[in-house]
Amino acid sequence: MMAALYDPIEWTEKLMTGVPEIDNQHRVLVDSINEANVRLMSDHDIKLLEQITKDLLSYAIYHFETEEDLMQQMGYEHKSAADAQLHQKQHREFSAQVIAVRDGLRDGKAISREDLLSFLNGWLVSHIMNTDQRLGAFIKQKRNTAAATQ
Ligand SMILES: [Fe+2]
Repeated sequence: MMAALYDPIEWTEKLMTGVPEIDNQHRVLVDSINEANVRLMSDHDIKLLEQITKDLLSYAIYHFETEEDLMQQMGYEHKSAADAQLHQKQHREFSAQVIAVRDGLRDGKAISREDLLSFLNGWLVSHIMNTDQRLGAFIKQKRNTAAATQ
């Protein structure tokens, strides 16, 4: 049976990009989403949802900056301007969606655990497995080339 999108995210090889700083931050994101899932099972009030989405958004923004700094340092836009743009656009859209959820909470519209978790899990897993894997492959290749020429 397929796992529901609001089940815990399993940290597997498939999620690893091979870039340690990115993988470590992804691990923190996965752990905090899984932890949010557990907390929301026993307690589902707007205060908790506000806290969870606030913490998640600030860590996600910090993480996106790490990736975007790496893109810039490594010249990712020279390799593929379109992909670099798409990547950053996905980061912006994620932040905007979390902000929209937070605006809803402020207006008294609670989001269900299933809806929040299926959005977070679905976005993160598909972003990591596609967009971040392409960036990771590029960074690894750059680093290997730099190491070989030293
Ligand atoms: Fe990313």
